[in-house]
Amino acid sequence: MKPKEGDPQKRAKREGATEKELTRVNRILQTLYQCNHALVRATDEHELLHSVCQILVEVGGIRLAWVGVCEDDPQKTVRPVAMAGHSLDYVENANISWSDETDRGRGPTGIAIRSGKPYWAKDFLADPTLAPWRAAAVAHGYASCVALPLVMHGTRLGVMNLYAEKPNAFNETSIQQYTDLANNLAYGVTALRTQEQRKRAEEALRNSEQRLLDIVDNTTSVIFVKDLELKYLLINKEYERRYHVRRDEVRGKTDFDLHSRQTAEAVRTNDREVIASGEPKQFEEWVPAEDGDRFYLSSKFLLRDSSGQPYAVCGIATDITLRMETELELRRTEEAMREAQAALTHVSRVTAVGELAASITHELNQPLTGVISNSHACLRWIETTPPNLEEVRQGVERTLRDGTRAAEVIAKIRSLLRRTTVEMAPVNINDAIQEVVALAQPEVRKNQVKLRIDLDPALPCVTGDRVLLQQVILNLLINGIEAVAPVEREYRKLQISSHRSDPAAVRIAVSDTGVGIGEKSFDDISKAFFTTKPNGMGMGLSISRSIVTSHGGHLWAEPNPDRGTTFQFTLPLSTEEKE
Ligand SMILES: Nc1ncnc2c1ncn2[C@@H]1O[C@H](COP(=O)(O)OP(=O)(O)OP(=O)(O)O)[C@@H](O)[C@H]1O
Ligand SMILES: [Mg+2]
Repeated sequence: MKPKEGDPQKRAKREGATEKELTRVNRILQTLYQCNHALVRATDEHELLHSVCQILVEVGGIRLAWVGVCEDDPQKTVRPVAMAGHSLDYVENANISWSDETDRGRGPTGIAIRSGKPYWAKDFLADPTLAPWRAAAVAHGYASCVALPLVMHGTRLGVMNLYAEKPNAFNETSIQQYTDLANNLAYGVTALRTQEQRKRAEEALRNSEQRLLDIVDNTTSVIFVKDLELKYLLINKEYERRYHVRRDEVRGKTDFDLHSRQTAEAVRTNDREVIASGEPKQFEEWVPAEDGDRFYLSSKFLLRDSSGQPYAVCGIATDITLRMETELELRRTEEAMREAQAALTHVSRVTAVGELAASITHELNQPLTGVISNSHACLRWIETTPPNLEEVRQGVERTLRDGTRAAEVIAKIRSLLRRTTVEMAPVNINDAIQEVVALAQPEVRKNQVKLRIDLDPALPCVTGDRVLLQQVILNLLINGIEAVAPVEREYRKLQISSHRSDPAAVRIAVSDTGVGIGEKSFDDISKAFFTTKPNGMGMGLSISRSIVTSHGGHLWAEPNPDRGTTFQFTLPLSTEEKE
């Protein structure tokens, strides 16, 4: 029997059902409204998911709401990331997967994720997919659920699960509405993730840019970047400091705006060279600053875009002014030292010759007296009638001989006193010795020294400066004379010898039987300014040693077994003369 339309009881029941449905719809709308509101304001993914779950429970009357994300681990775990409602430990222990190879992956969550469509379990007691969780779900008071996939552009993000305490709690309409919510949520999560990624990328970029700027601005080098038309793009702090320009003012300017015309042209020529060749290059550049001239070692190279196209020229300039000045100063000092050394060598030589002066002067008197007396005699022979020409001829010959002897002595002294520059040439060492001995001869005689000369006639030439080598021999000879002068006459012996010490060298030795050097070593007595003589300078040996060393030879002294000392030096033979 059909109930009558007008049955008040039934109408009331019908109206009650409609009202319930209205409340339900209203609730869903409220829920969706608040969820969407949360979505719009969201700044953090976790916070968003959590508040959506909470709204679903508190406003939507859902018993349990949770969101899980798909892990890419071997078990294909669905990891819960947000939840709200009753008995949350159920979710924590649910151990759900999205793999279709396990029972736990074939429940509503797994199905929804794999199919990309909502799965609606109307009754937990009846739905076979819920077998693994049934007991726990029933115990926690869940009777039905809907699993909504969170998918964005085909990417499985996860799932949103809603549980109700009654079976059949969802219908087509509500599921459609929750699906819309799930889609919005997936969109929101993706947007937040994209935003987060962008933020991180921006921060990383900012950090790396800042780091680069920190390097550029904390170095003591001067750094610039100019475009290919040589207009400034960037300068570093050191550039700003040195040339009183600001980074923001310099953009678009050229070197002509910052430096003198000459400087600008010079640095731009170098810039252009790098642009033309495309190769990095180093230049020495001179860029005056307010505090004076500045020299730089500038490394210049091109900057290229990702396609390899050059867009700028960069320079890193290191200030080498101090280094250059120090080097210049060092060179000046070395030059001054060389000059001083040469001057000292010369002075020492003049002194050594000076020591011979008295006896040489005496020695010169002899031939000069001869010249004068012979000339007088000649005059006399000319004045006789007839003039005795034979006598005149002999007289003139004697005059010539004496004059030549005197001239020779003077020439030798002059050559010793003359120049200070070093001239390397082949030197016949025996001739050089003979000349020095000739000069020292008067002094030898004066001191009644017995001098033996023992020179090897087969000695080849050495390469050297004749005057300097003669200075060494003279120093040793004078020292020898001075060493024997104070001892008894029978021990005033001196010997000078030369011989081939080995195939590659000659050795010259000056040996005396004088006072000896006692306990002192050669190093001691050859130190500059070491002297035991009242009028000595103490430079003779020191200078002799440096002359011999500069000729590649070696000077040393040894006490003689009986008495006195032998000073000797070697000189290397030039390669052609070695056998
Ligand atoms: N043949 C020698 N026998 C003993 N002592 C010597 C001999 N030659 C040098 N000496 C010692 O070495 C010292 C240094 O000799 P060196 O020739 O350098 O200077 P000096 O002869 O004193 O002065 P000068 O600079 O005028 O030559 C001498 O003062 C002397 O004490
Ligand atoms: Mg001396």
